[in-house]
Amino acid sequence: MKNLETNLKFSAYDIIAKKRDGHKLTDPEIKWFITGVTNKSIPDYQMSALLMAIYIRGFDKAETASLTDAMLYSGSTLKFEGVDVIDKHSTGGVGDKASFILAPIAHAAGVKVPMMAGRGLGHTGGTVDKVEAIKGFRTSLTLKEFKEAVDKNRMALIGQTGEIAPADKKIYALRDVTATVDSIPLITASIMSKKLAEGANGIVMDIKTGSGAFMKTRTNAKALAKSLRDTASRFDKKMLTMITDMNQPLGEAVGNSLEIIESIEVLKNNGPKDITDISVQLAGAMIYLAEITKTHKAGIKKAKEVLKNGKALESFRDLIRLQGGDEKVVDDYSRLPLAKNTKEVYALEAGYISSITCQEFGEHVVTLGGGRKKTEDKIDFGVGFVVHKCVGQRVKKGEKLVTIYFNDNQKTIVEDIETEILKKNIKIKATKPKVLKPLIYDIDENSLC
Ligand code: URA
Repeated sequence: MKNLETNLKFSAYDIIAKKRDGHKLTDPEIKWFITGVTNKSIPDYQMSALLMAIYIRGFDKAETASLTDAMLYSGSTLKFEGVDVIDKHSTGGVGDKASFILAPIAHAAGVKVPMMAGRGLGHTGGTVDKVEAIKGFRTSLTLKEFKEAVDKNRMALIGQTGEIAPADKKIYALRDVTATVDSIPLITASIMSKKLAEGANGIVMDIKTGSGAFMKTRTNAKALAKSLRDTASRFDKKMLTMITDMNQPLGEAVGNSLEIIESIEVLKNNGPKDITDISVQLAGAMIYLAEITKTHKAGIKKAKEVLKNGKALESFRDLIRLQGGDEKVVDDYSRLPLAKNTKEVYALEAGYISSITCQEFGEHVVTLGGGRKKTEDKIDFGVGFVVHKCVGQRVKKGEKLVTIYFNDNQKTIVEDIETEILKKNIKIKATKPKVLKPLIYDIDENSLC
């Protein structure tokens, strides 16, 4: 039997076979299929087969746009007025707390910032989990409350709601178990359907590449950046993409409360250079896309100004208060949950740091309970790491490399983690690495910018 469906204009079997044989699918075929997946008239096994066919045969620009469109309208959509409503998205990394820094910077510079962020799964942490380390901070506003908050306060931060692009949730779960996650058109449609539904008028994309990133190679990161820009253009949205390095943790802190503390330190102009620089670059891009400045360079200058004069820190304080959080954390870090025990890891030899494996630090946080193995897992905000060194830095024997934050019952786990850090995660060599990886590889904008 070819079809399980009745009253069909198309046949799921024929569409799967068409893509399997390398032919281009039409816009109505793609939309019909995704509608069927959303209303459950097309079963998961047929969607899984189509996903594999797309994974192997690919989708061109038009097919990717049709898939994005179909997923975008599978749920509710928001619309904000004004060129100054700009969103930012990161493909995720370890220690990536840039959202807490760039959103207040952009806001203080006059950008309207609607941030809909994700939770962590696996080795990459989630913005929503991190901000929930602040007591009382409400990330579960309804779409109506979110829209009102952005219109009134010019900034809000919420978690992904089930109302936005429900087809993506379903399809992503199938991709996860059918080895079809790392397909450029599927990633593009997944990210863009959510971002377009959120209603911003311009989007800054931070595409991470390297050992701790989703896109391991720069070639793939470039291909994803282009596909995202092409799709944004088709939907008349301005987009600036930045490909940035994720071969070592960003900043020093990895773990929920620790990352909030580090973000506040950056906003107080005391933070590590890498996370400060990247946040300023991304915020500068948001300011530029909002047409507050004429160039990205001028946007960066403006971003530095509001960071330096403390306006960005005040924006962050306002955001916490307006979403019901304890704003006093900004001045008193002891109000954040932090594990009671710390253990220092010291260098066993002198030399230069040649590599710091990124993914493993993310995994260690999960092992200590600070991240999720399964979607329903509860998070321990207080555990994590401060990595005191970065690649290329000189170390003396016995110098402090890492501080581990852990709970009373985790002493054995911590001993194992310490051994791994010293044996595998942080490598020290006698000579300085010849070439250090840049923080930012490429910056490109689409034709609408
Ligand atoms: N992030 C998403 O939202 N979707 C993907 O497919 C990959 C990363």
